[in-house]
Amino acid sequence: MSVSIRGAAQVLRPPEDGLPYLRGDRAAELTLEPGDVLLEGDAIAGFEAADADVVVDASGCAVLPGFVDCHTHLPFAGWRAEEYERKVTGVPYEEIARLGGGIASSARSLGAASDEEVLGQASALASELLRHGTTAFEGKTGYGLSRSGEARAARLGRSLASRVVQPMRLTGLFAHAVPPGFDADGWMDEAEALARECDVDALDIFVESVAFGNEQLARWGAVARDTGRVLRAHVEQLSTMRSVPVALEWGARSVDHLSLIHPDDIAPLAESECAAVLLPGAELMNAEHTAPARELAAAGAICVLATDLNPGTSPIASMPVIVGLAVRRYGWSVREALLAATLNAAWVLGWSDRRGSLEAGKRADVLLLDGPAEHVPYRFGHNPVGAVFAAGELAWVRPDQAWRVER
Ligand code: NIG
Ligand code: FE
Repeated sequence: MSVSIRGAAQVLRPPEDGLPYLRGDRAAELTLEPGDVLLEGDAIAGFEAADADVVVDASGCAVLPGFVDCHTHLPFAGWRAEEYERKVTGVPYEEIARLGGGIASSARSLGAASDEEVLGQASALASELLRHGTTAFEGKTGYGLSRSGEARAARLGRSLASRVVQPMRLTGLFAHAVPPGFDADGWMDEAEALARECDVDALDIFVESVAFGNEQLARWGAVARDTGRVLRAHVEQLSTMRSVPVALEWGARSVDHLSLIHPDDIAPLAESECAAVLLPGAELMNAEHTAPARELAAAGAICVLATDLNPGTSPIASMPVIVGLAVRRYGWSVREALLAATLNAAWVLGWSDRRGSLEAGKRADVLLLDGPAEHVPYRFGHNPVGAVFAAGELAWVRPDQAWRVER
């Protein structure tokens, strides 16, 4: 099938082809010029108007690459809305945890749900991601909280990948919380066994006063290296642990959260190829500190945005909402936020050679917005995605925009 997207008001393009990422201090080089986009089969064929099987009237619209959500916790079971209400009305985290809330609560829900129930909820969320423009995403284990539970979570993650429209990476967050009956070190023996026996693309760990420490992060780095997996880490979310230098030493692909990154760690991170994955949804919903995103961008870090979609700290599936939060709370430009939600996010997943930007030869994951790109953050809460092409196929069109697509 071929698709000719014609007469767009804006087409988001990188300053040159073949970039694996674009550092934050170069985001202004992205262009948003009027133009056309041609899709042939599953790839982008070029940037001219042509005869095609499907013609799309993109007048007044921005055309963007699909969003890449490189940090979600799919698949999980159930939600934790009562906990959220307790949290916002002032019940301290320790008390919520003492009453069985937090990660342990989601672990119980996962344990009680059948495979079909888990996959049903997660597939529905993947469709919701798609309707908000996410054409590739990552999911994690982490709510299994036992050796067998985590192994099951990894199997469920791969089953989810086989059911959804989007390509999906799976990360083994085998070190998420210290399960009952273990200390952090003791659990790392189990986590290491899981890393060796489970089919996952990357390894992740939650480094925090209430979870694992820098020592365990270093061990996890060694396991990742030894098993040929990408290392990622949840760091500096609730307290400053100085985990960034440790993650850099072990060649991490990303450090995620960074709400409380130490100022001295910004420059080394910005000089590295390790991405700074910022999660403003979790910062908002969990009343966390705000990451020094302006400083990270100005220093030239590979800045990335993601939803952190999970039942505890960020029940948000919309990348447009995340872009809106980043622009408002980080003081980022529209280009900075869109770069962080596309090409740089693809870099985290090892996919920037084929996804994340509009370039001839890349996979035809393309969004048609219902207005200009500046409206994504400005019309906060509105879903600006009018149509989604995934691998060149029309994967979704919003009913009020259907008139634009002529077959
Ligand atoms: O990314 N930080 C740890 N993990 C998740 C939240 C886990 C939960 O509360 O369910 C996060 O914020
Ligand atoms: Fe997370």
